[in-house]
Amino acid sequence: MARRLGHGHPACLLAAAVLLLSAAAAASTSAAQQLDCAANATFQAGRSYRRCSALPVLGATLHWTYHPGNGTADVAFRAPQGSGGWVAWGINTQGAGIAGSSVFVASQQAAGGGGGAVSVLTTVLESYSPSLRNGTLGFGVPSPPAAEYSAGAYTIYATVALPGNSTTQNTVWQAGPVRGGAIAMHPTSGPNLMSTKRQDFL
Ligand SMILES: *[C@@H]1O[C@H](CO)[C@@H](O)[C@H](O)[C@H]1NC(C)=O
Ligand SMILES: *[C@@H]1O[C@H](CO)[C@@H](O)[C@H](O)[C@H]1NC(C)=O
Ligand SMILES: *[C@@H]1O[C@H](CO)[C@@H](O)[C@H](O)[C@H]1NC(C)=O
Ligand SMILES: *[C@@H]1O[C@H](CO)[C@@H](O)[C@H](O)[C@H]1NC(C)=O
Repeated sequence: MARRLGHGHPACLLAAAVLLLSAAAAASTSAAQQLDCAANATFQAGRSYRRCSALPVLGATLHWTYHPGNGTADVAFRAPQGSGGWVAWGINTQGAGIAGSSVFVASQQAAGGGGGAVSVLTTVLESYSPSLRNGTLGFGVPSPPAAEYSAGAYTIYATVALPGNSTTQNTVWQAGPVRGGAIAMHPTSGPNLMSTKRQDFL
């Protein structure tokens, strides 16, 4: 005859304790990340941001200020990368993952490296082999984006009208090489395939 496991059974209590412990660990991890990502972060032209989040891969951090009155967010995306590479951040307005994402791509394509101006490409990734045409994004960009390269990291500065005036968005980010003056494919394994997050801007 089967023995019934009541809610007071030791196995259930253990499961509940494990859940509580992992919730506590998650909370303290996110508090620590909040500190890490805020620690002395400085930005060009006196910019500052209310919130930040250490993104799970590629050593990237996202800093932002959300303006509820007009549904925009001022964003600074920072990621370590060699000066001869590129980094990108964006929002997928068409679903999750990479295809359909509207992204800002920062790179320094000036020959000789070092001292090259950092430019920002805005493009919609139509597919996994996108055209990378500099064009308009799937959301409003009220002011021109900018970027800098400093201390081994790129920072992209952008203001975005959050699509659908929604404070949670499917975000993507990436880092890869520039070859022959052109944005080349990023690595296609490991962390480079895990760089998506449903980001809460509140
Ligand atoms: C932040 O800046 C303070 C004062 O300049 C310094 O003492 C501290 O070590 C810095 N912290 C980090 C994590 O860089
Ligand atoms: C949105 O609101 C913020 C805060 O009031 C303001 O600083 C910003 O200029 C506004 N942006 C646009 C595009 O209206
Ligand atoms: C966006 O949503 C906020 C909060 O729900 C609201 O106050 C604001 O008017 C909306 N803005 C736009 C541009 O729709
Ligand atoms: C994309 O176009 C904008 C606006 O014309 C320009 O400022 C920017 O430098 C261009 N980006 C690239 C990488 O060519």
